[in-house]
Amino acid sequence: MQTPLVPGTYSRTETEPFKRLRRTRMTEPLRSMVRETELSKNDFIYPLFVVEGKNFKKEVSSMPGVYQMSVDHIVRECVDVKKMGIPAVILFGIPKEKDEVGSGAYDELGIVQQATRAIKKEVPELVVITDVCLCEYTSHGHCGIVRGNEIVNDESIELLAKEALTHTQAGADMVAPSDMFDGRVKAIRSILDENGFKNIPIMSYAAKYASGFYGPFREAAESTPHFGDRRSHQMDPANSNEALREVEQDIIEGADIVMVKPATPYLDIIRRVKDRFGMPTAAYNVSGEFSMVKAAAQNGWIDGERVMMEMLTGIKRAGADMILTYFAKEASAVLDKQK
Ligand code: PBG
Repeated sequence: MQTPLVPGTYSRTETEPFKRLRRTRMTEPLRSMVRETELSKNDFIYPLFVVEGKNFKKEVSSMPGVYQMSVDHIVRECVDVKKMGIPAVILFGIPKEKDEVGSGAYDELGIVQQATRAIKKEVPELVVITDVCLCEYTSHGHCGIVRGNEIVNDESIELLAKEALTHTQAGADMVAPSDMFDGRVKAIRSILDENGFKNIPIMSYAAKYASGFYGPFREAAESTPHFGDRRSHQMDPANSNEALREVEQDIIEGADIVMVKPATPYLDIIRRVKDRFGMPTAAYNVSGEFSMVKAAAQNGWIDGERVMMEMLTGIKRAGADMILTYFAKEASAVLDKQK
């Protein structure tokens, strides 16, 4: 007897029947029977960029097919998204004016607050998630208040809590803090509970890495920091155990869904988080992941549709229950075609 290659499995001897793993791959019906991961439109959350003004729609040059849109266009887009069978959108706001303390973020009449009201009026069944951060609203492009060389934590989370409250008052179904400051989930949970929003869930960007893959987003959201970077709050790409500590902390503070971001370079983190905590787990397939596929496909170097589906399937296989992705509409169309 040979020792098994994998403990617990049998090794093949000369007299044993030949093991053919290809048998279940021979036809599409067989492949579909043994398929372990199935993408669904229910997995998708579609990110949208909302700007001030009327009848404005401008493509983001580094993100083909992704637009900055004024509220009227956003509402129309949301009607389409709902019709396609995608359950949720996440809103990012680009205000007309920015200042040192990101006032536009927690203004009751701010851009995300306006868009949320308009969407919930027109398409009430669509789940509206709002991104809670200051970077799109501050003149310096940082996610919080800056004093000297420091992006300060405790004052910033008070502002984030106010932002989350005004989003919720405008009708948001869920809030998603993306700053990575300490204690923000607790601050948001407390202010929501105190104001009668006990049932509004928090999706926390729990393990968010300081990533080069956010480049195209910062063009879309006009949120590139004017000096410095985000390494004092976002995670070091080299770390994995620390991601578990971040996620655990957010769960303790009251996060209902935990997110790993970006997705494809961090599939191991998604798997560890899912296995360890068993929480509803989201993965953000970020702008750079999207734009790389688009650029290579435009050059004829890869089959864009095929790589898109493979990428999303891989993210789900790694353990994500839901995927925030700019591919949501295109991938939904492919899923419809496959039916
Ligand atoms: C911060 C935020 C960022 C993204 C989502 N929320 C950018 C950042 O941290 O600089 C990136 C998303 C993407 O790249 O698609 N508000």
